[in-house]
Amino acid sequence: MTWRASVLTLFPPMFPGPLGQSLAGRALEDGIWSLEAVDLRDFSADRHRRVDDTPYGGGAGMVLRPDVVDAALDSVDDGRPAICLSPRGTTLTQSRVRALAEGPGVVILCGRFEGIDQRVIDARALEEISIGDYVLSGGEPAALVLMDACVRLLPGVMGQSSSAEEESFTGGLLEYPHYTRPAEWNGRGIPPVLLSGHHAQIAEWRRAEAGRITRERRPDLLATDLVATMLRAP
Ligand SMILES: C[S@@+](CC[C@H](N)C(=O)[O-])C[C@H]1O[C@@H](n2cnc3c(N)ncnc32)[C@H](O)[C@@H]1O
Repeated sequence: MTWRASVLTLFPPMFPGPLGQSLAGRALEDGIWSLEAVDLRDFSADRHRRVDDTPYGGGAGMVLRPDVVDAALDSVDDGRPAICLSPRGTTLTQSRVRALAEGPGVVILCGRFEGIDQRVIDARALEEISIGDYVLSGGEPAALVLMDACVRLLPGVMGQSSSAEEESFTGGLLEYPHYTRPAEWNGRGIPPVLLSGHHAQIAEWRRAEAGRITRERRPDLLATDLVATMLRAP
């Protein structure tokens, strides 16, 4: 079944953008997923197609109107998870991405200006998701990030399904380092175990490296029982 993404935006030509290339682009052509960019302005009741207004309480910037956003959501609502992109949202994780990829698809609302009227976020119980602690000028790049992360997990998108099983975050750890030819480059060799042909020792080295890198760079990821158990596993 096709995984369906509907993106509500003021800038439909931004889509599919980079997702029209490479793995995601091929999967789009093959019908593994579909993408519809819905223009929020089509749902304005205003003859000038205005979608925003000044904030109550004063202050800089403009706010997307709740009635416009609500009508746009109505036009695509079929029970898929509905996400509002926001720097105030819960930070996107690989486990949330995996859950979304296993579902029927997503509806993604991209904010612009100062943001979106809170009442429509509350009334529609939109899930607020952030892609990191920084502020973008609009939700569109965040929507591309979210969809890219989901689409690559869809069955048939990645050639070798094992690449998704071993990569960063999947087991709660960052991934071990990779090496390829030449075996000697600018005076740098590669860890000898990788040339040994001994699969168990290679697996053990990779597990140890994943643990070392995670401990050094993201000790917060080690805080779960699951990861502690994995690190102890033979
Ligand atoms: C300029 S931002 C609004 C920032 C908002 N006034 C604030 O301070 O939280 C406009 C839109 O970009 C999107 N956006 C910005 N940063 C984001 C982030 N880190 N993650 C997800 N979406 C983001 C949201 O859709 C937001 O409504």
